[in-house]
Amino acid sequence: MTTADASSSTAMSPRSPLSLTLIAALSPTNGLGKAGGLPWSLSKEMAYFRKATSHVPGPSSSSASSPSSSFPSTGALSTGNTAQNVVIMGRNTWESIPPKFRPLKGRVNYVVSRTAGDKKREEELGIEEGKGSYCVASLQAALEHVQSKDIADAGRVFLIGGAQLYAQAMKELGPSSSHSSSATPAKLDRLLITRLVSPNFDCDVFLPEYRTKQQIQDDASIAGSEADPAATGGEDKQQQQPLNVAEWEKCGSTELCEWLGREVANV
Ligand SMILES: NC(=O)c1ccc[n+]([C@@H]2O[C@H](COP(=O)([O-])OP(=O)(O)OC[C@H]3O[C@@H](n4cnc5c(N)ncnc54)[C@H](OP(=O)(O)O)[C@@H]3O)[C@@H](O)[C@H]2O)c1
Repeated sequence: MTTADASSSTAMSPRSPLSLTLIAALSPTNGLGKAGGLPWSLSKEMAYFRKATSHVPGPSSSSASSPSSSFPSTGALSTGNTAQNVVIMGRNTWESIPPKFRPLKGRVNYVVSRTAGDKKREEELGIEEGKGSYCVASLQAALEHVQSKDIADAGRVFLIGGAQLYAQAMKELGPSSSHSSSATPAKLDRLLITRLVSPNFDCDVFLPEYRTKQQIQDDASIAGSEADPAATGGEDKQQQQPLNVAEWEKCGSTELCEWLGREVANV
């Protein structure tokens, strides 16, 4: 005979994956960096990045999960009385930020490095938990740490670079990833791209192509023919194969502004 004791029963369900947003500024051919730094110096772009990654949405923001076209679940990591979003980056990107601007203020910073746990190295890099930055051994570890702080239903979580981390996230957490959502702590469900139309900056690292040929042409025609690398013969000669089938859907400007919590002007 079995008995059921209602007072001690519990319901367990898997944690929902975090919603991860990749934010990057890209040349027309997806170039994103040169010689360990940014190939451009654009103060308005930097200001946009700061505002986009710092904006903590209110509880009334909508939630959904399909790639790129919809809003991820939103909220904020609460550290003490201050609600903050999360930024995750590779160690090279951390080092490319001038020390006086590290950690990126008003956001919880995660730095991915294989040397995580080596306190001397972390000290050299200026990564200190007490000052709002964590060093973690992988992207997965960063996401698990964020999730373990019980912000799975909340926190806007951004992947801010660089090339290695972007490529890993697109492969492992993007819409074509073979990983099941229950096995991964996050889904990459938004790409927040600033397309730097002209000039076609010379770059040595690139975001993997995420567009079909038609989407590339659409981007070029929206920006004008100058944005078409084939037309400009710019310095950036990187050629990547377009996707055969669209994986990402471009959202409209109203949706973008709503998500960002502000109007966005061309820079
Ligand atoms: N245009 C943009 O929006 C944008 C944004 C950010 C960065 N960037 C540019 O991107 C470039 C930097 O990109 P990057 O690819 O060289 O470097 P990155 O992705 O920033 O960092 C790479 C480092 O991350 C760590 N890492 C990578 N994969 C790992 C893994 N699976 N497990 C543990 N640690 C791992 C390693 O650190 P350790 O060597 O310490 O182990 C590796 O050296 C720069 O040019 C920067 O200016 C551009």
